[in-house]
Amino acid sequence: MLNKINIKHLLVFSLFLMVVQIFIGTGVREFIDEQTKLYGRLNKNLWLSNPSFNFYFHRSFSILIFLVNGLLFIISKKLNMSMKYINIVMILILFEIIIGAVMYYFSFPIMSQPLHLMIAILIFVIQFYWYLKIN
Ligand code: HEM
Repeated sequence: MLNKINIKHLLVFSLFLMVVQIFIGTGVREFIDEQTKLYGRLNKNLWLSNPSFNFYFHRSFSILIFLVNGLLFIISKKLNMSMKYINIVMILILFEIIIGAVMYYFSFPIMSQPLHLMIAILIFVIQFYWYLKIN
């Protein structure tokens, strides 16, 4: 049941989830831009005082991304495949979720926004590279 074909399908599914998450994330960013205009650049604590549905969806969706990649991690281990890419992806996803939470609970500390965007792109690129390698 566990084989390379399954891992490929799961990886494509995970890439699809990432595309959705990045798309929703840009929606959250758009909302933050509106809040910035409304409350001003300095009142960062108010930017997410009344979050949009997009934000809650984005936050919860990250759990699904974590679980699907956790499954990829377990299957790769069982199949004795190279763990190089999935290890990096798992660390980056954890880091990405922590930065998201830090933006929410600690009112967007310096560099947290560009870091959040950069790590999202890194996760996608590494997953895509891994997919090409498996093929
Ligand atoms: C796999 C997990 C995640 C990925 C891949 C991801 C990805 C993204 C992306 C691509 C953006 C758009 C950034 C931009 O346009 O500048 C974004 C924005 C955002 N995300 Fe996430 N995100 C994840 C998890 C989370 C979590 C768990 C939270 C909160 C608990 C969160 C909170 C936010 C916030 C507040 C923004 C707006 C940032 C800004 O103003 O620049 N994200 N996310």
